[in-house]
Amino acid sequence: MADKAGPIGVFDSGYGGLTVLNNFVEQLPQYDYLYLGDNARAPYGNRSFDTVYHYTLECVNLLFSRGCSLVILACNTASAKALRTIQQKDLPKINSELRVLGVIRPTTELAGNYSTSKHIGVLGTAGTVASQSYPVELHKFFPEVKVFQEACPMWVPLVENNEFNSPGADYFIKKHIDHLMQQSPLIDTVILGCTHYPLLIDKIKKYLSPQVSVLSQGEIVAHSLGSYLYRHPEMEARCSKNGTREFLTTDDTENFDRHAAIFFGKPVQSKHIAL
Ligand code: DGL
Repeated sequence: MADKAGPIGVFDSGYGGLTVLNNFVEQLPQYDYLYLGDNARAPYGNRSFDTVYHYTLECVNLLFSRGCSLVILACNTASAKALRTIQQKDLPKINSELRVLGVIRPTTELAGNYSTSKHIGVLGTAGTVASQSYPVELHKFFPEVKVFQEACPMWVPLVENNEFNSPGADYFIKKHIDHLMQQSPLIDTVILGCTHYPLLIDKIKKYLSPQVSVLSQGEIVAHSLGSYLYRHPEMEARCSKNGTREFLTTDDTENFDRHAAIFFGKPVQSKHIAL
């Protein structure tokens, strides 16, 4: 386990985390990254708290066993349902020098600054919405904001099945945007609280008024990772810097490579990993 420097682990249930990895590579290109997509068991969004926790822990342990000292859960559902337990209960037992970070806190630290009306909308999976993680975290940093949430259970399957550009996607996207905006016409900032949703951003914007700011997490989380590494030089030293990117999937590699190249913007050659 990670005594010497190793890659930064980036985990998602499937392809969504690639939208975060993209920004890591752009903002922090010097580091090595090892991406793991649990495509065989995606989506996680409608699964129980316990299932998401066990799946996520398995994936985090796999990334540790591959030499990562730092793992980013580039998945809101896993961040909402598994991160705290892993940080508080599992890490002290596994190795207290390893770290796991999520995507919700960096997003909520900033989101309130974008809103003038202080009415913020959150789009996420059923699991993320039910966990109440966004309202709870947003209120820590911006007690005055009103938070309105909408679960969009069909959106991740649209992305995972490469149907996100199809006319059928419009129906489900419009439906949930309408439900969200019906909760408050004052919403002026919408958080894409799922790392899959940036793939749907054009259609999401199409059904929102142009005055509404749409926050996708990649850039925010990459900036926050840079600042974390700056503030924790001992962890920074444990992140190797050869500019490599490796991809693991729990499902079929050919399929993964085809889809992942679209999301990552460059060719991807993954390896299969059995959990
Ligand atoms: N990318 C994950 C997230 O950010 C998708 C969850 C899922 O697999 O349903 O929540």
